[in-house]
Amino acid sequence: MRVELQNIRKHFGEVRANDDISLIFEPGKIYGLLGENGAGKSTLMKILSGFQKPDGGKIILDGKARRFDSPADALAAGVGMLYQEPLDMPPFLVLENYLLGQRRGFAVNARQAAKDLRELGKKYGFDIQPEEHIRDLSLGERQQLELLRLLAGGAQLLILDEPTTGISTEQKVLLFDSMRKLAKDEGKTLILVSHKLDEVQDLCSQVFVLRKGKLVGEAKLPCPNELLVNLMFEKLPPRRERASREQKQVALELKDAVVATPRLELQPLNLTVYAGEVFGLAGLEGSGQEILLKACAGLLPIRSGSMQLGHQPLDQLDYHAARAGGISYMAAGRVEEGLVAGLTLTEHMALVDQEAGFFVDWAGSRARTKERVQHFQVVGTSESTVEQLSGGNQQRFLFAMLPSSLKLILLEHPTRGLDIRSTDWIWQQLDERRKDGTAILFISADLDEVVERSDRIAVFSGGRMSRVVDAAKTNAEELGHLIGGEQ
Ligand SMILES: Nc1ncnc2c1ncn2[C@@H]1O[C@H](COP(=O)(O)OP(=O)(O)OP(=O)(O)O)[C@@H](O)[C@H]1O
Ligand SMILES: [Mg+2]
Repeated sequence: MRVELQNIRKHFGEVRANDDISLIFEPGKIYGLLGENGAGKSTLMKILSGFQKPDGGKIILDGKARRFDSPADALAAGVGMLYQEPLDMPPFLVLENYLLGQRRGFAVNARQAAKDLRELGKKYGFDIQPEEHIRDLSLGERQQLELLRLLAGGAQLLILDEPTTGISTEQKVLLFDSMRKLAKDEGKTLILVSHKLDEVQDLCSQVFVLRKGKLVGEAKLPCPNELLVNLMFEKLPPRRERASREQKQVALELKDAVVATPRLELQPLNLTVYAGEVFGLAGLEGSGQEILLKACAGLLPIRSGSMQLGHQPLDQLDYHAARAGGISYMAAGRVEEGLVAGLTLTEHMALVDQEAGFFVDWAGSRARTKERVQHFQVVGTSESTVEQLSGGNQQRFLFAMLPSSLKLILLEHPTRGLDIRSTDWIWQQLDERRKDGTAILFISADLDEVVERSDRIAVFSGGRMSRVVDAAKTNAEELGHLIGGEQ
């Protein structure tokens, strides 16, 4: 299917998310769509897939102008999209989700459908069990299911919006293989939205670049990464060398600490993190690193052993005690855990700046929000709700809400989904904090980030923490082996 976008326009108040964008996608090719956070990539793809309506412009499929009222409408016309946030329904079964939006008539033969689903899965190397619950699936598996649903629904064009954030390396390899197969053997058109230039180079034959809602360039791939970076950013600030650490004050100490969830019990943990240190945690999602962070944040109890913050033993650590003690936790689920959907930035600020008292000082909160939004370069206003911010800007705003003086910052995937500029900026902010003696304990799925940004590193594998390694003496490959369980 040949897909043409003509003069697509979409404004949100003052923001020109898409400003007169015209593009053509030919069948059988994989395209990349690049652009910094807030450039308008998701908006454009949501319009193409019927999730949002454009203010102006046309969608033309194989020469025919189309108008979509819903994603199901678009899928019926051959356009399917894997959204940045999954759209499936966790309480449902895999099979039920698979059948959503399919036009199979009134009476569904469940056994046949389950068989179809298994076979389709096999074709692309996905191990899908129709009778499982969505909530028991990993993000990567949910994505595989969604992809199969779109294919079964007749998608000729498949759009994948940052599909590799939050899935395992194996799942990524599988996903890319199936994408290649779909383009090459089945003549489908694919569009990959991503911030990871290596992935784009690896997979795509052509890229389009958006900046501030406008199409600013295109390139045939492979090409030098530098060219792409120059297209994406008007001006990239030079990267700063990070300060070296020479502190030996203990910020956090765990001794034989046992932490468990109903799903996983960690091996007793022994860990010391020093003031001013950046400590990186790697591992496949669900290997235990998240549990360690939650325990340090007071969100999971430590069953035995001890935990100390500085010289202060923490026996009964709950979340509020942790906060009062100078620990801040930033969860991976920005919108689910970090922010409150539906509330404006000012309302968020009023929540975190809780002065004891009966009345909320709205004028004060609004003024502080304005000042922080400016300082942290959040694209949005104090009256924007958090869902109106792009992913990168939500993350900036989370940073804007951190208290000023902290002993320990716990971060889950601090730069997930962020462009290069925002990533650098976040690490600059953290670097400033380090200088004041704040320790940073973070999880990232990006091994290069772990190696590059940490002082020391530990790897989790199946609930067990590896020996601690010096970041200067290791590399992503070695971490990969540790992740695989080699000690
Ligand atoms: N529903 C909405 N209401 C108001 N503004 C919105 C809405 N959706 C997007 N925007 C704004 O439109 C602009 C483009 O957002 P979009 O999500 O398309 O960016 P993006 O390129 O996908 O960014 P990211 O890389 O962070 O995902 C942003 O400034 C965003 O704040
Ligand atoms: Mg986006």
